[in-house]
Amino acid sequence: MNHIEEQLFYRLTKVIDPELGKSITDLGMITGIHTSPRDGEPNTFDVDITVELTVPGCPLSETITRQIDAAVESYADATLIPHITVGSMGKEKLDNLVAQLKAERHQNPFNKPGVKTRIFAIASGKGGVGKSSITANLAATFAALGYDTAAIDADIYGFSLPRLFGVHEQPVNLNGMLMPAMNWGVKLMSIGMFAGSDRAILWRGPRLQRSLEQFLADVWWGEPDVLLLDLAPGTGDMAISVAQALPNTELVVVTTPQISASDIAVRSGLVALQMPMTVRGVVENMSWYEHNGERLEIFGAGGGERVSEQLTRDLHYDVPLLAQLPLDPEIRETGEAGRPAVLDAAGQLRIDEFGQSFTRLAQELIRRP
Ligand SMILES: Nc1ncnc2c1ncn2[C@@H]1O[C@H](COP(=O)(O)OP(=O)(O)OP(=O)(O)O)[C@@H](O)[C@H]1O
Ligand SMILES: [Mg+2]
Repeated sequence: MNHIEEQLFYRLTKVIDPELGKSITDLGMITGIHTSPRDGEPNTFDVDITVELTVPGCPLSETITRQIDAAVESYADATLIPHITVGSMGKEKLDNLVAQLKAERHQNPFNKPGVKTRIFAIASGKGGVGKSSITANLAATFAALGYDTAAIDADIYGFSLPRLFGVHEQPVNLNGMLMPAMNWGVKLMSIGMFAGSDRAILWRGPRLQRSLEQFLADVWWGEPDVLLLDLAPGTGDMAISVAQALPNTELVVVTTPQISASDIAVRSGLVALQMPMTVRGVVENMSWYEHNGERLEIFGAGGGERVSEQLTRDLHYDVPLLAQLPLDPEIRETGEAGRPAVLDAAGQLRIDEFGQSFTRLAQELIRRP
């Protein structure tokens, strides 16, 4: 290697494969760097770089080549013109890489001692109160605030996160290890990504418990700062599976302002009496609808406060009302179009009151209780 090639290799150690979270040089993806001087153009070189990605037609190929281009073009001491050839790894090399990654990865990366990931499960008694919308918007908020964020659709029959994130492709299967889909900065895994495909075969058996275990263990998560779980409505099985698989989970109970619905919301929080799980707080959704500057309380008022008081009383620790969120048709419309409403079209966190509510909620949650 000549001096420029060495310098380039060093720069490429800083290019991270977005799926695997490791440098492309560590992953053995750079298989050649060759410079040749251009005739008649002083201090100008063509640079041929060969890259081997894990799978042919890897959806992130463009992201990686763009980063390689940038790394080459930013070289200051000469003019370098990059030519990148993208291929894919041979079987043996890929098998070795997967074996190496698997060896580094533990069964369930989230319950080993010292893991930094904060885990929040979004639960409710009643269906349709906004768990999935809140999970999606909160995940997008955490990601926009710079946290490495992952979200799991633990509602395996009524999954909604793929639609809310606009993720339509299947997760890449790297010889038995699944790469989470990634959109709006969030790593995402949902049974919905497998529906209708032969990969659904992965999900046979006692599906509930196993699916969560698979989501945790067979997916390459890296070590996110935050993991959000969108639970199914009810007080039931999944919350218990979650508590067993992820004893550090903090529960966030979602309710509407309707007083009559608050008893069942309280019950969904009381699983924490039987399980090693903390209830972190309550979020009241659809609290008001703003009309001509006036806040109309369409679903009544006081539900969130009441759930907070009852859980605080029954659990013997403070379970605060963390946020009250407005009823806003945009949440549904933007969400259905595949973008969490808390982000603007450019993917930036909205700075209006709605954006601020989610920012405060995220900051409140991540603060140690
Ligand atoms: N604050 C809000 N303003 C307007 N629409 C909302 C709001 N929150 C949720 N919605 C809409 O209400 C419907 C139900 O929300 P969502 O799917 O998030 O609830 P859920 O609790 O996850 O439901 P399920 O129990 O079926 O999983 C969706 O159409 C969603 O877009
Ligand atoms: Mg839902």
